[in-house]
Amino acid sequence: MNEIPKKSRAVILSDYNRNLIRAIIGMIVGERDIPALKKDEVLIKMEAAPCNPSDIAFIRGGYNIKKSVPAVPGFEGAGVVVDAGSNAKYLIGKRISSFIQEDKDGTWANYFIANKKDCIVLKDELNFEQGACLSINPFTAYGLVELAEEKNCTAIVQNASGGQVAEFVRVLAGLKEIEVVDIVRKEEQIEWLKQKGAKNVLDSTDENFKQKLKSLANDLKVGIAFDAVGGDMTGILLNALPVKSEVVLYGGLAGVSVQELNPFNIIFQGKKLSGFNLTEWIENKGKEEFEKINHEIQDLIIEGKVKTEIQAIFKLDDVVEGVRTYIKSMSGGKVLFTA
Ligand SMILES: NC(=O)c1ccc[n+]([C@@H]2O[C@H](COP(=O)([O-])OP(=O)(O)OC[C@H]3O[C@@H](n4cnc5c(N)ncnc54)[C@H](OP(=O)(O)O)[C@@H]3O)[C@@H](O)[C@H]2O)c1
Repeated sequence: MNEIPKKSRAVILSDYNRNLIRAIIGMIVGERDIPALKKDEVLIKMEAAPCNPSDIAFIRGGYNIKKSVPAVPGFEGAGVVVDAGSNAKYLIGKRISSFIQEDKDGTWANYFIANKKDCIVLKDELNFEQGACLSINPFTAYGLVELAEEKNCTAIVQNASGGQVAEFVRVLAGLKEIEVVDIVRKEEQIEWLKQKGAKNVLDSTDENFKQKLKSLANDLKVGIAFDAVGGDMTGILLNALPVKSEVVLYGGLAGVSVQELNPFNIIFQGKKLSGFNLTEWIENKGKEEFEKINHEIQDLIIEGKVKTEIQAIFKLDDVVEGVRTYIKSMSGGKVLFTA
């Protein structure tokens, strides 16, 4: 085996900035010391790491995780384990995907540290590009569709439908014969999604959107909506859905507080507003059940039934251009970084 590196080359965020452009151009690539590994930790040689909405919220200082700055961004990535603490030696040499949230390291670096509990071993047939986007979105979509199943829903609504969580939700719901109503915010995405197999697509900028949503949701007896947007969309969804339905908030893409919510819908119509957090969902799954789901998801990707769309791959040195490319066209697919 090659010598264990003592330093990493990483994207470094010197400070958070609400202004996204300033935050992005404030990132530099520099050297960091790699600290000694604790007994449950592994050192991963990064092969690919995506830019997700949580990374964007993070560098703006608007995410629920704030690392001490200067910090390395990147919550998710894939690579090969090159060193490990005493309890994690069995992972050395393994190809893994990881979701890390600790206050010291990020995946936008040629080497990053992860706790063994946050590592998923990749099947040989799963490439690093798909592996880099495995740990967060596919499991989130799985958890959301599971909620629909638990409520015996035959139809669901979701927004941010051009995104990657939504793509996994559509496919997983389709496998369970749950009908999906998709919401986008650009007219041109309607046809594009329909070509990908979506049956019902609404444009939230259509002047009759609320009415169309209400009649479709009631015709299909939608029982649950997955809301990645927040803002007024949450209230609009809850108001449009049939009685006793539920809106599950799992993202805050609008960047503003929930609005338009009619309190009487919750008080008198038995409607519910709840939240979904992947970290909590994973904690609540036993190790065995999580592994079962992991195999199921990896197999679906390997069999070509679903995948994360990748729009571009950038070197870490081109992080500014990479993040800019992603925010210009989020529905275009993930931007990945490689060392
Ligand atoms: N709660 C959890 O545990 C959890 C886990 C994973 C992901 N998430 C959240 O899930 C959401 C989707 O993530 P993703 O990785 O699927 O995203 P993605 O693939 O990067 O795509 C983002 C999608 O959101 C749309 N969008 C962005 N801002 C919007 C706004 N203000 N109003 C309406 N649509 C908007 C984009 O559409 P345009 O093309 O129109 O910009 C794009 O289709 C994010 O909020 C993410 O943080 C939450």
